Amino acid sequence: MEEEKAPLLLTIAVLGGTGKEGKGLAYRWAKAGYKVLIGSRSSEKAVHAASEIMELLEGSSSVVGTSNLEAAEQANIVVLSVPYAAHRDTLESVKDAVKGKLLIDVTVPLVPPKVTKVQMPLDGSAAQEAKAILGDDAQIASAFQNTSHELLLTDGEVECDVLVTGSSKEARTETIKLVEAAGLTGWDAGPIENSVVVEGLTSVLIHINKQYGSTHAGIKITGVSSDE
Ligand SMILES: NC(=O)c1ccc[n+]([C@@H]2O[C@H](COP(=O)([O-])OP(=O)(O)OC[C@H]3O[C@@H](n4cnc5c(N)ncnc54)[C@H](OP(=O)(O)O)[C@@H]3O)[C@@H](O)[C@H]2O)c1
Repeated sequence: MEEEKAPLLLTIAVLGGTGKEGKGLAYRWAKAGYKVLIGSRSSEKAVHAASEIMELLEGSSSVVGTSNLEAAEQANIVVLSVPYAAHRDTLESVKDAVKGKLLIDVTVPLVPPKVTKVQMPLDGSAAQEAKAILGDDAQIASAFQNTSHELLLTDGEVECDVLVTGSSKEARTETIKLVEAAGLTGWDAGPIENSVVVEGLTSVLIHINKQYGSTHAGIKITGVSSDE
């Protein structure tokens, strides 16, 4: 009984949670019993997104919309889900608020219009840039880059594993708990430097989607059990 209540003790902020990916993740975490704060540049837009999620969950959860900064200030865990063009500015705007908290970066450094071509930033990856912006002692994980938003706002199974990289084992372990709470399988994929591969893989999946007429190509890790 105690265990079922535990998620409510944690508040997750989803910065850019008004968008496709962030709203889907917020829905899944709210459904799992976490308190979720939707962050946005516009509090009004965030309130609207939060009420949409509450409607889907028939009011049986706690989702609140506010500004990105307030969401980051009030949360225990902060998830960043904005287009790469907004990555640096958004991180800098919440830098003080995320001190001492886990930041999970979902951002893929896509460079439109050539989103089917891997074009990584000079620092290696968006996650490494986040680490450079937040500082060496920041707890950063990187996850969900290969998870299409298409199925997140449904209760359907998402046939895509989540590779989780992070600045520490604790950051990865905490993030894998949230991956599982969202109904997916998460794998400890090593240090934050490995995020370059995961972020790059997204362009490969987008290419596959285009090539084969799909919307949510994904990946599965085989040959190992996640219970091990
Ligand atoms: N969509 C997917 O299937 C998917 C899958 C895996 C990873 N990702 C990655 O996850 C991130 C979010 O993807 P998404 O598809 O959810 O993006 P999105 O819907 O285009 O944008 C997400 C939110 O970011 C904010 N935003 C947009 N442009 C901005 C700007 N110029 N400056 C500041 N904030 C801005 C907006 O929030 P406000 O206007 O409310 O501030 C928007 O609702 C991206 O990095 C993407 O590559 C996406």
